[in-house]
Amino acid sequence: MRAIHISTLDGPDAVEVVDIPEPSNASLVTIAVKAAGVAFPELLQTRGLYQVKPDLPFVPGAEVAGVVESAPEGSGFSPGDRVAALSLLGGFAEKAQAQVDLTFPLPDEVSFEEAASFTFNYATVYFALIERGGLAEGETVLVHGASGGIGTAAIQMAKAFGAGRVIGVVSTEAKGEIARSAGADEIVRADGFLESVGKASVDIVVDPVGGDRFTDSLRSLKEHGRLLVIGFTAGEIPTVKVNRLLLNNISVLGVGWGAYAMRRPGHVKKEWEAMLPHLRSGALSPVVGATHALDDAATALKSLEGRTVTGKVVLLP
Ligand SMILES: NC(=O)c1ccc[n+]([C@@H]2O[C@H](COP(=O)([O-])OP(=O)(O)OC[C@H]3O[C@@H](n4cnc5c(N)ncnc54)[C@H](OP(=O)(O)O)[C@@H]3O)[C@@H](O)[C@H]2O)c1
Repeated sequence: MRAIHISTLDGPDAVEVVDIPEPSNASLVTIAVKAAGVAFPELLQTRGLYQVKPDLPFVPGAEVAGVVESAPEGSGFSPGDRVAALSLLGGFAEKAQAQVDLTFPLPDEVSFEEAASFTFNYATVYFALIERGGLAEGETVLVHGASGGIGTAAIQMAKAFGAGRVIGVVSTEAKGEIARSAGADEIVRADGFLESVGKASVDIVVDPVGGDRFTDSLRSLKEHGRLLVIGFTAGEIPTVKVNRLLLNNISVLGVGWGAYAMRRPGHVKKEWEAMLPHLRSGALSPVVGATHALDDAATALKSLEGRTVTGKVVLLP
């Protein structure tokens, strides 16, 4: 089968298209991949900078959607079933394998591209907003990086799970349009966002960006407000003077979904089932920003570091 190999740690330009044997672990579900989600960890893996460091060469690709080719007996899956799955590795290929408990039946109304954009970002945001952040009915949620993969997921998830007002923070007008069409009620520019939203005005901040806006994010929180730390796309890891937490009775909560969920068999399935009615209704509708052929994997990976991407980047093997 055709697949993408990371064989040196020289960045996205060094990834190669190779012909390798199909994976054949009979205890896993084998999937003919129709779409594979591309995420920041895979970009980091091309340079050996992600915490998961497989032996070289390896096929990256944590998230796929496709059609079941074979499945272990008793798994509940049969050849021909449409599924979404966390392959963890191996997804950038014509065939991939996933554990039974990380494979999910896909409703007919959800496309393969949307499905490959769903599990990683939406389960992370479910964990952040619901499990860590305790989102309550009617609360105001501010989302940084609001046109990105996590950002668009956070807007839709907040709305689907009962938030009142959702504010998207973006760097350009075009990105504002993406965030608005994902369902944000208000859009504000990243520069000076605190002046636009006002101090002590939001209940939850969803932050996949970090950097120098962190202190203003804390200032934007009401009493009992929560700031959810998801990532650091701005590059800089912020520090916090904890007197700010004390003064307003606010909390900063770390959100590390992947390793946490993998240590708890059945955890992702529970999250999927909670989100499924909203996926079926269209309230959760992953924003597919760009699709690329397998041969263009380097371009797809590089697009993540240029601050140009909106929604999710998807490979079509
Ligand atoms: N904690 C977890 O469990 C978990 C799970 C999944 C992902 N993540 C992390 O979450 C982060 C966001 O992922 P994503 O898929 O949403 O990424 P993305 O689609 O690329 O979006 C990130 C957003 O960050 C903003 N940004 C600000 N400064 C930037 C800069 N210097 N370079 C690039 N972007 C910049 C951009 O919005 P503006 O241009 O509008 O500012 C962009 O839309 C990543 O760091 C990822 O590793 C964490």
